[in-house]
Amino acid sequence: MKPVRKAVFPVAGLGTRFLPATKAIPKEMLTVVDRPLIQYAVDEAREAGIEQMIFVTGRGKGALEDHFDIAYELEAVMKGRGKSLDPLEITRFPPGAIQSVRQQEPLGLGHAVWCARDLVGDEPFAVLLPDDLMVGSPGCLAQMVQAYEKVGGNVVCVQEVPRERTASYGIITPGARDGRLTEVRGLVEKPKPEEAPSTLSVVGRYILQPEIMSLLDRHEKGAGGEIQLTDSMAALIGTQPFHGVAFDGERHDCGDKTGFVVANIALALRRDDVAPAVRAFIAGL
Ligand code: UTP
Repeated sequence: MKPVRKAVFPVAGLGTRFLPATKAIPKEMLTVVDRPLIQYAVDEAREAGIEQMIFVTGRGKGALEDHFDIAYELEAVMKGRGKSLDPLEITRFPPGAIQSVRQQEPLGLGHAVWCARDLVGDEPFAVLLPDDLMVGSPGCLAQMVQAYEKVGGNVVCVQEVPRERTASYGIITPGARDGRLTEVRGLVEKPKPEEAPSTLSVVGRYILQPEIMSLLDRHEKGAGGEIQLTDSMAALIGTQPFHGVAFDGERHDCGDKTGFVVANIALALRRDDVAPAVRAFIAGL
């Protein structure tokens, strides 16, 4: 079984649910406590053993690349003032460890992943959607890699959702269960509650085999007129092992305003430097 060494971060979406905040800055640069969403996703990938980070970006997304570059002027001024550069440590990567490719038009998540095909090559890879902020130890992708080492093939992260919310997610047809691992027998994007095969939804973490790229090559449009990743994943079922892993941790949907605000509170309460003041403020409310 080939190890998972590469991760694709689709970050070319328009983030329309967050306008006007996302008019001039990428959604993935929105900040939870003191770091942008992309940093949490990249940290999670690094912890899971990923060596190569691949950003699928679009116009106006340059801040994502700058965030992981050297900021000479900032560092020089900070050094001159005797300030510690420690907060910048997590933004440093070896040269070449972060690559990016452009998705010229936001035609859908499946299309974004397909844009990375040449950088992914012929090996399994992870996909992380940075607006799903996953908090746990070990991290979500590390838990999935553990499962992948047992079952191989394709592994997605799954989470129970209320039946009335199925139309916002990819939903699986579950097969045999073994603890947190569920066999995936079918997948459908955004089904109506009455048509959903279960209430187990796929959330923004995937380990996929490279064969998905030739299915995405067909550029078939699905739900919402977008090229959906779900449709190509569904076509792999039956040809390769396919499992869902229920994450042992918390998920915050930061692509949504409420989820984003809740994530800021939840993560602030886990941070020794800000938790006491935030807790006192909430208690006052
Ligand atoms: P979303 O469905 O959240 O879309 O994409 P969005 O455009 O970012 O946000 P809204 O719905 O307009 O507010 C999920 C992930 O897939 C990426 C997004 O950047 C996000 O990380 N994506 C989506 C692409 O990279 N390209 C696309 O064509 C679509």
